[in-house]
Amino acid sequence: MTTNATSHSEPTSATAVGGVVLHPSKGKVIAITSGKGGVGKTFLSANLAAALTRRGLRVLVLDADLGLANLDVVLNLYPKLTLHDVFTGRCTLDEAIVKAPGGFSVLLAGSGMVEYSRLTPEVREDFLRLVGEVVPRYDVVLLDTGAGISDVVLFALSLASEVLLVATPEPTSLTDAYATIKVLATQQRRRLIRLVVNQAARPGDGRAITQQLQTVLNRFVGGGQGAAVRLVHVGDIPVDPAVKEAVMRRQLLLVHTPGCPAALAVGQIAGRLVDTVLRAHDAA
Ligand SMILES: Nc1ncnc2c1ncn2[C@@H]1O[C@H](COP(=O)(O)OP(=O)(O)OP(=O)(O)O)[C@@H](O)[C@H]1O
Ligand SMILES: [Mg+2]
Repeated sequence: MTTNATSHSEPTSATAVGGVVLHPSKGKVIAITSGKGGVGKTFLSANLAAALTRRGLRVLVLDADLGLANLDVVLNLYPKLTLHDVFTGRCTLDEAIVKAPGGFSVLLAGSGMVEYSRLTPEVREDFLRLVGEVVPRYDVVLLDTGAGISDVVLFALSLASEVLLVATPEPTSLTDAYATIKVLATQQRRRLIRLVVNQAARPGDGRAITQQLQTVLNRFVGGGQGAAVRLVHVGDIPVDPAVKEAVMRRQLLLVHTPGCPAALAVGQIAGRLVDTVLRAHDAA
């Protein structure tokens, strides 16, 4: 691979895809992350990718949960080649990228890769080169990261133009979400983080949670000087038994039960991301 690894951040001219005018750099790499594990990152990555594909975008989901990847399980894919093979030069990028049932592309990581669970200079370089190489080929690249604030996760987040943080209303998830935001604001100087509240029990949960977190952040991370980091509530996904059913059948929710409340919520989140992150006018 010879591509300039930082090319994803270099602006070029805007392009029109499927009726959506895209800004070339802003929002091209969206990391889906969480403080606490098991809150729905992989579910959201896969179904958001399907929803964005339906809107005419060329989408790649990169399994950035190096070490404990399970996007393949959710998508019922049996990859012969993974990121590991690309990194070790056993195959080309094109050979390792496969089409998922939702019509989007995926690059799977393979599970149990202990060598990728630590951020060595090699992992850092391989990953950076990979992102630089895939970004020009897609309208949006979603990084399905691991949970928490390990150096591998933080490195993956540092490559993203946008961070979509997933939290559930549980106090443990919110505490961990706060810790993640704090680290991103202080270590990576990120000024804007987008929040999705998954498994919401009531309408309005997400908005209230966003306000609560913002108040605490203003106080303890802004140092009383105002907001050091701004949280933007992108949407709520309700608790929905259809999510578990789809996972058990290893199908996308948008394919399994497209009209269920959680699927409709993911569709709305995709629409908001197109409107606020991916459209050219928002970049001005
Ligand atoms: N809106 C929802 N309603 C009901 N169940 C849900 C919902 N979202 C997620 N789940 C359940 O939570 C499980 C875990 O989701 P998922 O694997 O996407 O989490 P994750 O954040 O990627 O986990 P990890 O941190 O291990 O990578 C799903 O298999 C599903 O059973
Ligand atoms: Mg996951």
